[in-house]
Amino acid sequence: MKINDVTGYQVENGIAVITIESPPVNALSAAVRGGILAGVETALADASAEAIVLICAGRTFFAGADITEFGKPPVAPILRQVQDAVENASKPVVAAIHGTALGGGLELALVAHCRVAARSAKCGLPEVNIGLLPGAGGTQRLPRIVGVDTALDMITSGRHVPAVEAHAMGLVDALADDATLRAEAIAFARRVVAEDRPLRRVRDLDAKIEEARANPGAIEAFRRANARRFRGFLAPEYNIRCIEAALALPFDAALKEERRLFDELMAGPQSKAQRHVFFAERRVAKLADVPAETPLRPVERASVIGAGTMGGGIAMAFLNAGFPVTLVETTQAALDRGLATIRRNYDATAAKGRLTGKQVEARLARLHGTLALEDVADSDLVIEAVFEQMDIKQALFSRIDAIAKPGAILASNTSYLDIDTIAAATSRPRDVIGMHFFSPAHIMRLLEIVRGRATAEDAIATAMAVAKRLGKVGVVVGNCFGFVGNRMLAQRQREAEKLILEGALPWQVDKVLYDFGFPMGPFQMRDMAGMDVGWDPARSSSSTVREILNETGRRGQKTGAGYYDYDEQRRPTPSPLVEQVILDFAARKGIARREIGDGEILERCLYAMVNEAVNILDEGIAVRASDIDVVWVTGYGWPAYRGGPMFWAEHDVGLDTILARIRELHPDHGDDFRPAPLLERLVAEGRGFSASGRDAPRGDAAGGDVRGSDRPVES
Ligand code: 3HC
Repeated sequence: MKINDVTGYQVENGIAVITIESPPVNALSAAVRGGILAGVETALADASAEAIVLICAGRTFFAGADITEFGKPPVAPILRQVQDAVENASKPVVAAIHGTALGGGLELALVAHCRVAARSAKCGLPEVNIGLLPGAGGTQRLPRIVGVDTALDMITSGRHVPAVEAHAMGLVDALADDATLRAEAIAFARRVVAEDRPLRRVRDLDAKIEEARANPGAIEAFRRANARRFRGFLAPEYNIRCIEAALALPFDAALKEERRLFDELMAGPQSKAQRHVFFAERRVAKLADVPAETPLRPVERASVIGAGTMGGGIAMAFLNAGFPVTLVETTQAALDRGLATIRRNYDATAAKGRLTGKQVEARLARLHGTLALEDVADSDLVIEAVFEQMDIKQALFSRIDAIAKPGAILASNTSYLDIDTIAAATSRPRDVIGMHFFSPAHIMRLLEIVRGRATAEDAIATAMAVAKRLGKVGVVVGNCFGFVGNRMLAQRQREAEKLILEGALPWQVDKVLYDFGFPMGPFQMRDMAGMDVGWDPARSSSSTVREILNETGRRGQKTGAGYYDYDEQRRPTPSPLVEQVILDFAARKGIARREIGDGEILERCLYAMVNEAVNILDEGIAVRASDIDVVWVTGYGWPAYRGGPMFWAEHDVGLDTILARIRELHPDHGDDFRPAPLLERLVAEGRGFSASGRDAPRGDAAGGDVRGSDRPVES
């Protein structure tokens, strides 16, 4: 029978089975909560039911609280009411888990008396990733069942623990085959009834809490060991405090403390920003002219051309996702170097215990290194990652065109160059696309998918699907110099370099951006990437500080010196020599240096980026403002708790404040601070990005499309 729109109820073999079906992910919406509560009440009153199985239909067990309800007035029954009904039920309740039991979903499973999980299922408390903590008892019940150390790890990382591991740690009581979960859960419930097992409430388990109380320094040690990882984020610290409360307070008092801290995070700016990022990451896949049902081209085998840092990393990204990969180089020495680096990287991962020797060998066995470009013939996707020079790329694409099979996607990993010009070297521009990875390519989550004027819709859809299979966030962008990410980065870099001539020093600029939340500042970034990237010794004429430093052999970390001096552990110290070079250079240019405040550094570096981003949006290079946020959070280390440059500009600073400052800077800085016309319009009309229609609301597929920069732009 139906309990409500999303809840079914049957009694089978004396067991009441409550089945929730609320696509897509059975989030614990008001209807779902109401259905569970009514289902439990029905089962308790039903004389034919001796125990209860709580199970979900569709792709997953409850994926957590319904995040779309956050910030709205609560609707009864609230999750805690439902939990109380389950935990205090007079008949055993068995949670039957498949897919992912996440957040409130796992917290609900934790009030059941037993948990049975399908072998492919995963359990986790990922609230930390949206700036929250498990607010329905998760911080109190999880440590009682898995111990404080494991709970700290799970709660502060949000990781999804595979069922087999969850079983080993005692989080689930039994594993079931995926296909027979329902039947096995019913059989499990029957055994519980037959054996007349006591109703075990996790809240009453105290052994693991006692154990942790005996080791009072452990939590502080965990906090210290992870300080770098948690830097700037509030939620990890709040999660840790909840676990401290589990040790210090009686259960109900600790639960109250958990709720208090949850409410505080929920009302604060960080969680708002992180929830924005969560939905923004899911919105990127929605393109008006590439609907979800666009047929995909099959991609079973990939080729990567160029075994340098980028090519090697891209090859690893594909190997990690299970693809066979052909890696092409022009000389044996370069190929050997590339293959050796890949093996070294895998061995290092294995040494950290993150891969087994067997997994490493399986990945390497799928890799075929070759000097013969002809070997790309059987690949469905060919990615070029060679030197950033148009004539080289064009020559290569024309050769690939002659070899690749019909329908293969021909991708370029270019960071700046014109995809249409590259495509013009082939007879099949419809199949040519940009797939711009970020270094290290096997780790960074961002993939800019660059759409050329002729790129076919199914090639775009396929590239997005491949991004998902690689575990990356694919953001479709239009074709222009530097696309979205690097075009904005160039603004920040330019201002940083101007600032050190006007009076700041590299370490001051870096510190301001580091304190803002970036993993490093622009000068540290240059040193890490190599000062000589894009530097041509033949043309170098001491015309910038960077040229001078390159000329004196300071090429960044790899040479032990760049803007900073480096010791053997690559730890930086400010270089007096570089300071002198800057002072001399500024003097030669007749620049009167002045004291520059941290506030000006931040404004100049970031407002220039925001202004450019608004132009990017206006030109249709990005579909939505939130896509730009995703690019910066997933590819450039913009702190997720500040939501991305567009979210920050609109919600933290205010577009009017930014425009006013850009107007002030414009007379002295000319085009570098020419106010973006769309920014002026938005401020004049008192609208933000979403109100402008430039940030389609969630679920609205009419997100627009992006093409080349010469496409007419509607305003
Ligand atoms: N609430 C509302 N909507 C949700 C949701 C949630 N908890 N989780 C996912 N969705 C939506 C997504 O926005 C997306 O919607 P769309 O189709 O309109 O874009 C749809 O469900 C499918 O999601 P994905 O595209 O992410 O699907 P995947 O299959 O790739 O991943 C998932 C599924 C692993 C469940 C992933 O969606 C996920 O990680 N969800 C969030 C889990 C989470 O953070 N839970 C904790 C919530 S907070 C909480 O529970 C508080 C509690 O402690 C009180």
